Amino acid sequence: MAILKIGDKIQIKDAVVLAPMEDVTEKPFRMICKEFGADVVYSEFISSEALYRRVEKSLRKIDFDESERPIGIQIFGANDEPMVESARIVESFNPDIIDINYGCWVKNVVKNNAGAAMLKQPDRMVELTRLVVQSVKLPVTVKTRLGWDRKSIVICDVARRLEDVGISALTIHCRTREDAHKGEADWSWVAKVKQIVSIPVILNGDVKSAQDVKRAFDETGCDAVMIGRAAIGNPFIFHEAKHFLQTGKIPEPPNVRQRIDVCLRHLKMNIEYKGERLGLVEFRKFYSGYLKNLPNASKVRSKVVVSESYNEIEEILMNYCKQLEEGAVSEIKQEFEIEEPTTF
Ligand SMILES: Cc1cc2nc3c(=O)[nH]c(=O)nc-3n(C[C@H](O)[C@H](O)[C@H](O)COP(=O)(O)O)c2cc1C
Repeated sequence: MAILKIGDKIQIKDAVVLAPMEDVTEKPFRMICKEFGADVVYSEFISSEALYRRVEKSLRKIDFDESERPIGIQIFGANDEPMVESARIVESFNPDIIDINYGCWVKNVVKNNAGAAMLKQPDRMVELTRLVVQSVKLPVTVKTRLGWDRKSIVICDVARRLEDVGISALTIHCRTREDAHKGEADWSWVAKVKQIVSIPVILNGDVKSAQDVKRAFDETGCDAVMIGRAAIGNPFIFHEAKHFLQTGKIPEPPNVRQRIDVCLRHLKMNIEYKGERLGLVEFRKFYSGYLKNLPNASKVRSKVVVSESYNEIEEILMNYCKQLEEGAVSEIKQEFEIEEPTTF
């Protein structure tokens, strides 16, 4: 059994954590994941330079609901003053954790020496982290990758040195910067790092099911497991994983009505949070997950993504749901123009 301990307040058994994801782990989705059992949730990364300049849009990303606790707010950057100041700004909102991103692989971030670029300059990473840790009272955690590329894996050295400057936990996305999201995550490094440090180590990368969560704990001795892509439009994965860890049994998967109900509730929250236009447009990334493996999901998705109001989407989805429940395959075929016969 693993216990995740961060700071004085966080102590969670077999913790399953929602990964920070840009434009995905915003308040509405975090609240939904929390409701389905995510033990800790993280905000998307927020630019320290933008926070430093008090950019309204970035400040808004810090906002969270009390129900989300414990929550980590993630910042990224490469420069001392903006990083220290943005950590203080984040602290003034009183989340539970301040997380630093040293794992982002995208060009625009790396070219400014932030994110995964720090894996090429561990001295700088350690120094910047020390400054942030010293500037705030909240626990500071770090999320990073194994190294810049497979030939330069530095995670063991970096983990030890980050522990020395006072971070409270380390999340390892078990890929390199060069891998981006390709190739298989190599969890074996988590087991190695666990031998070296005594701070909690959170495993991340390619955890796609409740069984993967259990295997990650068993194979590596990690202190928590973090799920990213597999949770998009599938908050149910947290309930499944927690239930499996506690009972050894996989619970019944949600039926179509439960999936569509949660999807619509999530959409409504998104609209309340962002306004109808943005709320609808920026929700498009979630439909594939909510409709995954349902008959003719792609046809349904292509209808809802062009819909211009919540009411229209509700009507399409509820109609689809009713037809599935009634087993009315031929009607669904007509309405959603199915070419192939489908069994379900
Ligand atoms: C759409 C998307 C956005 C992401 N944004 C962030 C981010 O803001 N901060 C971060 O640390 N990682 C970010 N990541 C990386 C994830 O947190 C995670 O490390 C990665 O997806 C691997 O985990 P997974 O295999 O469970 O998806 C992002 C990943 C995706 C797919």
